[in-house]
Amino acid sequence: MTTVKATNITWHSTHVDRKDRERLLRQKGCTIWFTGLPSSGKSTTAFTLEHELISLGYLAYALDGDNVRHGLNKNLGFSAEDREENIRRIGEVAKLFSDGGVITMASFISPYREDRDLARKVHNDAGLCFVEVFVDTPIEICERRDPKGLYKKARKGEITGFTGINDPYEPPLNPEIVVRTAEHPPHIITAQILSFLKRNGVLIVDENRTENLRDR
Ligand code: ADX
Repeated sequence: MTTVKATNITWHSTHVDRKDRERLLRQKGCTIWFTGLPSSGKSTTAFTLEHELISLGYLAYALDGDNVRHGLNKNLGFSAEDREENIRRIGEVAKLFSDGGVITMASFISPYREDRDLARKVHNDAGLCFVEVFVDTPIEICERRDPKGLYKKARKGEITGFTGINDPYEPPLNPEIVVRTAEHPPHIITAQILSFLKRNGVLIVDENRTENLRDR
């Protein structure tokens, strides 16, 4: 649980609201949250989707576990408390990006259900859409991929508390989308997510959107 230390603070309303930004950008901000085991394909999926959205003329930004831990969250490790704080901060940052009108991808192991539910709540309380994507890749395949060699190190005891080996991962109970990177390539998964976003009104479909980009 986060201790609240901020006292004597007052919320100030700005002179523009979310609707102004949405009109400017011709899109609605939202957060697409990718959760799954290490090497399940979260970042690959999020980065491919980010690229596709930008190509289609939407403003998108991917927040990624390893990258955010180089800066904002460099003071956090992998204990249960630190992972909780990592996800709490990212939930808030994603909410700010979404409020700014950006289609925001967050790819973090986010192993604990309660922490992901809190990220969802801060979005929903602010009237923002939150789409949870479970990157459902069997651990045997994640371990076979092991691009950073971390499963190998964890098996040898060189990393303690490694998710999936000696630290828990709680799969989502009701994710909006389940993707299987062991069965489909990134462009098929991206199409699956885009189709969900369009069907559910998360993405404002505007076929003329890319016209301005064509001459560049
Ligand atoms: S989370 O559990 O707090 O959500 P996050 O997604 O930010 O994790 O960071 C995961 C990345 O940190 C992994 O992709 C991996 O490169 C690295 N990492 C280092 N140590 C661990 C560990 N003990 N468990 C999981 N990932 C680790």
